[in-house]
Amino acid sequence: MTVLPLTNLGHPTLRRRAEEILDTADPGWGTLATDMIETMEAAGGVGLAGPQVDMPYRIIVFTVPAERQEVDEPKPPPGTQVLLNPEWFPVDEDGNPLDPDFLPDEDDEEVWLDDVDSSLQSMDLLEEGLEGCLSIPGLRGLVPRFRRILYRGTDLNGRHIERVAEGFHARVVQHEIDHLDGILFIDRMIDLRTLCFESELHYLLEGRLDTDDEDDD
Ligand code: NI
Repeated sequence: MTVLPLTNLGHPTLRRRAEEILDTADPGWGTLATDMIETMEAAGGVGLAGPQVDMPYRIIVFTVPAERQEVDEPKPPPGTQVLLNPEWFPVDEDGNPLDPDFLPDEDDEEVWLDDVDSSLQSMDLLEEGLEGCLSIPGLRGLVPRFRRILYRGTDLNGRHIERVAEGFHARVVQHEIDHLDGILFIDRMIDLRTLCFESELHYLLEGRLDTDDEDDD
């Protein structure tokens, strides 16, 4: 087991689309996953994606701490999860995929942000939450994510995994899969004024950081 060096914001691998893993049965992925888990734990994180250790392949590891689980949410699997070639999409209360007409075109960043700001948030499909990233050490920011998703991928035993996730579980999966597409949490933020160093985060949490544009109701 090895703690691997982390790539930091500015490293080109963090901005590339990671490659599909074709030989999911290759034991080398298990070795990499073990090292990634050790790296994640050593850094005090809850998720890590291949590009964050300069491995541009579609592999993620993550865990959902018990204190981040709400009782009314589908129970996350225990322990640390490893997924190869993961993907996700937003689903409704019954686990059915949302009408694609509701969804913004993710290739068009402006449309994405506009839609996030208006319709999706008002429809209660998104929720904002604080995120950090081991590749952007020391910083936190408010990021909108889909509240409920279905995700799938392949585990290290070659099994097809498919789960519905809500809340923090859904958030960490969206964050890690974004890494595989060269997207960082700061790219998803609506208001960069909520980007804070951890040492100053209490101002945001105490409501002392004025980030309201106009209406204060
Ligand atoms: Ni990250």
